[in-house]
Amino acid sequence: MTGFAKRTIRDVDPSGKKVLVRVDFNVPLADGSVADDTRIRAALPTITYLLEHRAAIALCSHLGRPKGPDPKQSLRPVARRLGELLARDLPLLPDAVGPAVRDVVGKLRPGEVVLLENVRFHPEEEKNDAAFAKELARGYDLYVNDAFGAAHRAHASTEGVAKLLPAYAGLLLEKELLALGGLVTDPQRPFLAIIGGAKVSTKIDVLRALLARVDALAIGGGMANTFLLATGCKIGRSLAEPDRAGEAAAILDDAKAQGKRVLLPDDVLCAPSVDDAGARLATVKGVGDVPDDQAIVDVGPRTIDRYADEIRRAKTIFWNGPLGVFEIPAFATGTKRVAELLAASGAVTVVGGGESVQAVEELGLADKMTHVSTGGGASLELIEGKTLPGVAAIPDR
Ligand code: 3PG
Repeated sequence: MTGFAKRTIRDVDPSGKKVLVRVDFNVPLADGSVADDTRIRAALPTITYLLEHRAAIALCSHLGRPKGPDPKQSLRPVARRLGELLARDLPLLPDAVGPAVRDVVGKLRPGEVVLLENVRFHPEEEKNDAAFAKELARGYDLYVNDAFGAAHRAHASTEGVAKLLPAYAGLLLEKELLALGGLVTDPQRPFLAIIGGAKVSTKIDVLRALLARVDALAIGGGMANTFLLATGCKIGRSLAEPDRAGEAAAILDDAKAQGKRVLLPDDVLCAPSVDDAGARLATVKGVGDVPDDQAIVDVGPRTIDRYADEIRRAKTIFWNGPLGVFEIPAFATGTKRVAELLAASGAVTVVGGGESVQAVEELGLADKMTHVSTGGGASLELIEGKTLPGVAAIPDR
């Protein structure tokens, strides 16, 4: 693991320099527009800092996972939205590399900004191809990485290019490393992690890593069902991964051996179907009483009260993943309550991962949290203690 204190744009004078800035504008689109601009807004401090310090900047990002040039995955909607946020015309260049792009970038004046087209239109990007990284770096004086969400990828624009130009962290990357790195290196105790989401299989490693660091682990969402199975509860037709019950049981055993508490739901909301019709018939049951023909769709009120006690006691809280099927409003109570309790707590609160971030944003509680991460996979890998290639490539302070 490399350090979390990286050289940042405050450590260099970017004035008059051509700067390639890797951002993570991999945002959801709907009907040709940006559906959620959180990641774009999160990059604004770095962009405005560089522009105010008279740099000429080219922003580089991926969008989606295209297999080559694909107009549906163009960054055009992002250019429009970013232009609105910056209150200026933001040119989208037709490519991320090549003579035409170099020509425009070469003529950029201090304080000007352009957006390069989706860097993943080139398959060499994901292969971290050395020649492609060299192409990408041509014509720039500095490289800034502000793409925390893509820092777990060793791609040409996140890793390769950092070895070819003087590399610095952007302000978002710095903030993410400070907040998430703090959980790994020096959390105030008690440290509580609340982990939800559908599948235990995608989070086994992070659960293990967290167990070693936290004082208590509270589990919710579909993955709690697999844990309930591991403790011998019947879960009816609930979403679960029975083939992972052994691993869930091993985590519970490890927790016991380490003297850590793992909290599982003791009551749950059950519904005959996971839809609006099912919502009208949903009832709270003890975890021993889930009917064979029903599915667990949320945590119950007693469970929320127990988790609330832990939240009130904790000095550091990390939350990843919803506690129920929160896209259906009637099944979102557990997730909402956790968001509200975190917002009201005096603890250091760090929210990571797509759906819990979405819940916090939708409830208008994002600014009540110490930190809301823009990285899904990246934040989990950092917490697991893995080295993020995009971070490792930037020199430590
Ligand atoms: C993300 O949305 O998690 C990042 O932008 C990384 O995207 P990827 O999983 O397609 O590499």
